Parts: sequence; C-alpha cells; structure tokens
Amino acid sequence: MDHFHYRDRALYCEGVAVEDLATEYGTPLYVYSQATMLHHLRQIQTAFADAQPLICYSLKTNGNIHIGRLMAEHGAGFDVTSGGELYRALASGGSGDKIVFAGVGKTDDEIRKALEVGIRFFNVESEEELANIAAIARQHGRKAQVALRVNPDLPPKTHVKTDTSVKGVKFGLDIETVVEVAGQYVNHPHVEIVGLHMHLGSPILSTDPYRQGSAKAVDLIKKLRHQGHTITYLNMGGGFGIHYRKQEALPAAAFAEVLVPAAKQSGCQLVLEPGRFIVGNAGILVSRVLYTKSTGGKRYVIQDAAMNDLIRPTLYESFHRIWPVRPAPGFPTPPSDYEADIPNAVRCDVVGPVCESGDFLARDRCLPPLRRGDLLATFSAGAYGMSMSSNYNGRPRAAEVLIDGRRHRLIRRRETYEDLVRPEREVPT
Ligand code: LLP
Repeated sequence: MDHFHYRDRALYCEGVAVEDLATEYGTPLYVYSQATMLHHLRQIQTAFADAQPLICYSLKTNGNIHIGRLMAEHGAGFDVTSGGELYRALASGGSGDKIVFAGVGKTDDEIRKALEVGIRFFNVESEEELANIAAIARQHGRKAQVALRVNPDLPPKTHVKTDTSVKGVKFGLDIETVVEVAGQYVNHPHVEIVGLHMHLGSPILSTDPYRQGSAKAVDLIKKLRHQGHTITYLNMGGGFGIHYRKQEALPAAAFAEVLVPAAKQSGCQLVLEPGRFIVGNAGILVSRVLYTKSTGGKRYVIQDAAMNDLIRPTLYESFHRIWPVRPAPGFPTPPSDYEADIPNAVRCDVVGPVCESGDFLARDRCLPPLRRGDLLATFSAGAYGMSMSSNYNGRPRAAEVLIDGRRHRLIRRRETYEDLVRPEREVPT
C-alpha cells in the first residue's frame, strides 16, 4: 500500500500534485509520503505486537533526520552502522537506549561515542572487535552490552551483493565459532553478552530464511545460556522485501508468524532492524526528460536523474517501476504490468547524464511517447536511493520533500555548486 496515485491523469503524492512539486523544487527530486512510511512502520508494530519488539529503523536505508524524527516520534529506535549514523540517530531525537550498532569495522572513536551515549548494544562481528570493545569499555570504566552477530550459513536468498548470511561473506561470526568465542567472556567485567544478532540479507521475499535462521538462533541461545550468559535479545535484523515490480512482497504478518514464536521460544525480547519495508515504497524520484534519441538501433530517453541519484539499477540490476507523471492520452494510469508490452508504447532505455554506459534507471522499458520537458516518476525509490547518492560527475545531490496530506515541506535542500567545493576551499592555504 502506498499513497502515490493518479488523479485526472496526473500523479499525486497524497494530496499534492507531483507536477507542482517539480515546479516548486526542481528536478531531480525525491518525494516522500509520510502516510506511507508511518503505515508500514505501524504494520510491523501491529504484526509483531505480541513479542513486544524493539523496532530499530535501519538508518542506512534513508538517513534524513526529518524521517528519523518521524520514526522516533512513532516509537522506533535506530539501527546504525557508523559514527555518522549514530550522529544522525541522535540528531533525529533518538535515545541511546533504543540504538543498536552493527558493522564489521567499528573504529575506536565510534565505539567510545556509542558507549558514551549508552546504546542498547553493539552487534559484534568478530572476535577482535569484541576484544577491542572490552578494552575500550575497561578504559572508560564501563560494561559494554553486546549481541553476537552470527552468520547462519543459509542458502542464497537475494542478490549476491546484499546476501549477508551465506558462507564466504564478511559479516558476523561463523556459526560454529560462536560458542567458543562467547566462552571467553563469561562473567567478564567489561563485556556482557546479552543477545544474538542475524541480518540475513535484503530484500527477502520469503519467510523460509527467517524460519531457518531463527531456529539456529534459538538453539545457539540455549548453548550461550548454558555457558552462563544472560541472553535477553534475539535480533533478527531487517530484510523484509517490498513491491518493486507487482505485488511480490509478503506482509509483515507473514514474517511475524515465524519470528514471534521463535522469540517466545527463546525467551528473549525480539529486536528488528527494518529499513526498506518502512521507507522503500514511501518515496519516488521525480525527473524531467531532457532529450530523446535513437542510436545503435535503440531508443533512449535522457532525463535529469542519474546513477549518482539512484544507483540501484546499475549496481544490483534492480527493477524500479517508471511512468510519466502525466502520461500521453490513451495510456493507462498506471499500467497493470510495467514489464509487459504496452500497446503503442515505445521500448527504450531510461538513462541519465552521467558519463558511464552503466548510467541507467531502466533498460528496454515500454513507456508512452515522451518529449523534452515531460516528468517521470521512478517508484519505490525511498530506500537506498538518496542514502547511496553521490556527487559523481560534479552533480549536486537532489532535494528531498516530505508530503503530509496536502502539506509539503523541503527536508533537504538541493545541493549547490558551492557545496561541491566547500570542503576543498575550507582547508588552510
Ligand atoms: N540490519 C543490518 C545489519 C543491515 O545490514 C541492513 C541492511 C538492515 C538491517 C536493513 O535491511 P532492510 O530492512 O532495509 O532490508 N543497498 C542495498 C541494500 C543493502 C542492505 C544493507 N543492509 C539495496 O539497495 O538493495
């Protein structure tokens, strides 16, 4: 469910015409629907209510502090993966005791800061990291709470670049080694192992990996308790898929059906780190057609959003629905199937201005005829869109606007050329 719809043949986000937003804020432009993100957060809160979970919104998905603030106001904590994201979580009004911190390469400074603000726990990814956290906690007279991140060694379940629970990836501890590592920290003065963490990969369109992963976790928790650890948290990470193409994703309730019983069986509080599920379908990227051309027997639509704005299509071969904000007369609003042949449509590549052949938002896509100046919407761009954007090719980052009913407000201004060079100017000469 989302709040993007066509009315009188033009695209609206909630009560606001996307054409008006493009005129006011320019393009490329990220447009987010507050109702959509809150709806998805609520879906998770409701589906998992029985387990009284700690829901930590995964800030890497979309770190805008105004979105973060909405999450915090509606009861979410934060999953962070760097000192920068910890900073964003706090700037969003997050409180330390609802923050969890993952990542294979936490620096001493990051660990220190996290201890200082009293995060709920670290998701620890290696034996050396655990020793380092213990050493830093000792220096500061603290006791660090940690969850051990385990790689449960499951079959492939999503794109190879985002599958984090197959053998041979950098994440977590090998499942066979967890008990041995934990054995060295029983009654440790500066580290308390309080949980077990798994993030299986992203996006995941089936409950099977969660069933398999949580079964392994429950078994491990028993062993850790037997060693003498007080395990309080079962953190099953994020990964819930969304509708990118059609209605391919599962509702939160399907994942809850698997994870709530596992949490109860483990006697732990469930922790979740959803990102994409909350904001993915709450955002679109709006762009304006610059030119069209035919070359090498192919038709191209060149528009002003590029791989620096949304890198997912070229990085993961991912599919994003694209449709004109106001399609030519006679074309559906929107089509029932974006991958099918559409009568009278033009098959084209939708590309940006960046100097790489890999700069595209879509390939071989059927679109209504487009002309210079037309607006396009790239859907499901709220997750890993802006957060993975860059300044490549000297392109200022897009603006972001948040819609709430009929109200719209800028939540990140468009970058300027001066923004591009400021850190270079601000060095001593
Ligand atoms: N927790 C941990 C430890 C994670 O590494 C991630 C995502 C999440 C939670 C949130 O997962 P989500 O609920 O959003 O699926 N850039 C890729 C996705 C990379 C995911 C990285 N980790 C993409 O655009 O598809």
